[in-house]
Amino acid sequence: MKKIHLLPEDVARKIAAGEVVERPVSVVKELVENALDAGAADIRIELADGGKRLIKVQDDGAGMDREDAALCFRRHSTSKISREEDLEKIATLGFRGEALASIAAVSRLTLRTFDGTGDRGTMIEREGERLVAVTDIAFPRGTTVEVRDLFFNLPARRKFLRSGSSELGPVAKYVTQAALGAPGVRFSLVHGTRETIACPPVATLRERVFQLFGKKMVDGLMDVAAEEGPARLEGLASLPLAGRGDKSVQYFFVNGRPVKDRILLAALNQAYAGILERGRSPEAFLFLRIPYEEVDVNVHPAKAEVRFKETQLVFRLVLRAVGEGASRGRTIKEVAPGPGQAAAGPKVGESGPFYQASALKFGPDGAGVSGEGFHRPVSPFMGPAAGGAGDFPRTDAPASSGPVVLGQYANTYIVAAAGDDLLVIDQHNAHERVLFEKFREIDRLKLWPRKALLIPPVVELAPSAAAGLDENAGLLEELGFRIEAMGGRSYALKEYPDVFKEEEARTILLGLLDEAGGRPAEDRRERMIATMACKAAVKAGEPLAREKMAYLVEELFKTSQPALCPHGRPVVVRIEKPVIDKGLGRKA
Ligand SMILES: Nc1ncnc2c1ncn2[C@@H]1O[C@H](COP(=O)(O)OP(=O)(O)OP(=O)(O)O)[C@@H](O)[C@H]1O
Ligand SMILES: [Mg+2]
Repeated sequence: MKKIHLLPEDVARKIAAGEVVERPVSVVKELVENALDAGAADIRIELADGGKRLIKVQDDGAGMDREDAALCFRRHSTSKISREEDLEKIATLGFRGEALASIAAVSRLTLRTFDGTGDRGTMIEREGERLVAVTDIAFPRGTTVEVRDLFFNLPARRKFLRSGSSELGPVAKYVTQAALGAPGVRFSLVHGTRETIACPPVATLRERVFQLFGKKMVDGLMDVAAEEGPARLEGLASLPLAGRGDKSVQYFFVNGRPVKDRILLAALNQAYAGILERGRSPEAFLFLRIPYEEVDVNVHPAKAEVRFKETQLVFRLVLRAVGEGASRGRTIKEVAPGPGQAAAGPKVGESGPFYQASALKFGPDGAGVSGEGFHRPVSPFMGPAAGGAGDFPRTDAPASSGPVVLGQYANTYIVAAAGDDLLVIDQHNAHERVLFEKFREIDRLKLWPRKALLIPPVVELAPSAAAGLDENAGLLEELGFRIEAMGGRSYALKEYPDVFKEEEARTILLGLLDEAGGRPAEDRRERMIATMACKAAVKAGEPLAREKMAYLVEELFKTSQPALCPHGRPVVVRIEKPVIDKGLGRKA
């Protein structure tokens, strides 16, 4: 019996469309890329209900004449390449001639366009596969595409769309990315009546980052650049000792195209090993220019992945750019508090009896006494790999027999004696652990004390944070934060948990929103509490009175896991007496 038959044309087209158009953000991406390819200087994106009801992208680019406008919905129709050889050197964002065909196949679409020749523009209305009308219109030069009721004719697909506010998050993130890639272009994203992104054209990447992420982020970034032959990498990346607790701010562009790339990511991580504290990730905005033949962009329908011919070259460029930037950055940051202070302090490990420190395995040459080396758990020190909380003085022992605080080192570490051993305790990580467990208990009992503010401070949010807020308003409320929208991206902080100072509460809120995106709900609550603990904890570099240190150490060993902070960083390094004895050439 004959079982195989050709699919009807329209079914085949819907299947193909699904490869390009997955959700509202894919439509926005394709339309914005078309606008950029058309040389637009001003791109305005409007959504209703997270794009499910309407996605409208308006540009002032080259536009199309009547003939092209009629052709642009045909599959494999493009003005961007024409021969096979062209695939070897793609300079535009689009080239497959598929996007408009795919979007039109699964929505009700209206295109308005004018290329400035003749005296009339063109309006084309379509509904799924059907052409509804072609009309003469008066229209300024440029193109506007309206996409309504995405997947109206594919109910199975439409069911998979999330709530409007959840679909908005990825769109805001994409527009942020596109805006970073083209600082000279004006971008605006409007959801309903609220403008979530508004970026007038600027001259530099740094100004664009400022527009999108604010001053604090810009202050933590250094310029990076490296060149090799015709390839060049440049951009901005975290200063040494800066960075953040997550990987959410890492943007890569290859020949102007935003990409997700394993090689670039791996190179970035490697470049920052030892420059940032353990558990911190760099912020990065990296632009690679490379001859078109050196990179294949035709890997995936969404064009977000690329393949490099010479991956080693790419790796080297990232390592060099960051490495050189960091060595410049370090001299500036030397005065900064935190682990860096240890590095900048007296020349530990260079000469004299301290040189023996290398015997203590701080690092291969004793140089590791700075930041990373101090954190790294080395057996027999405490760390995630070592014995765990059980190695610590029993928590049920009376406090007086617990560790005895000897003093503070580098304004960052508490040095204590526990029996025969020496403990070096990271004051920030320790406090974070203590607060985390307290906060978790408060949260479990739903006992957050709330403080209402008569004159609520107004916070200005980055677009993705604003989207995160919409999505997490309920959770934040339970954690004691009541926030009210003030229009635009301004929000008033009406109430906050009465365990913080007002100024802290603001910073904490911003930290929470940073943290919010893209995690499963169970994980999110825990992470948020960890963030609250982190932001409220004493910082590295803060001098502490002895009583405070004693209290902190006592509380630390009452927690369930004194060896790790809630983000997984080690809290304590334990140095056993025999190791010290041996280092000093004394027989125990
Ligand atoms: N905003 C726009 N302004 C001017 N011309 C446009 C615009 N959008 C689309 N076009 C024209 O329509 C053609 C088809 O667009 P479409 O997005 O379907 O394909 P593409 O951009 O060539 O390739 P891809 O499928 O990779 O995006 C484009 O090649 C371009 O000539
Ligand atoms: Mg396109």
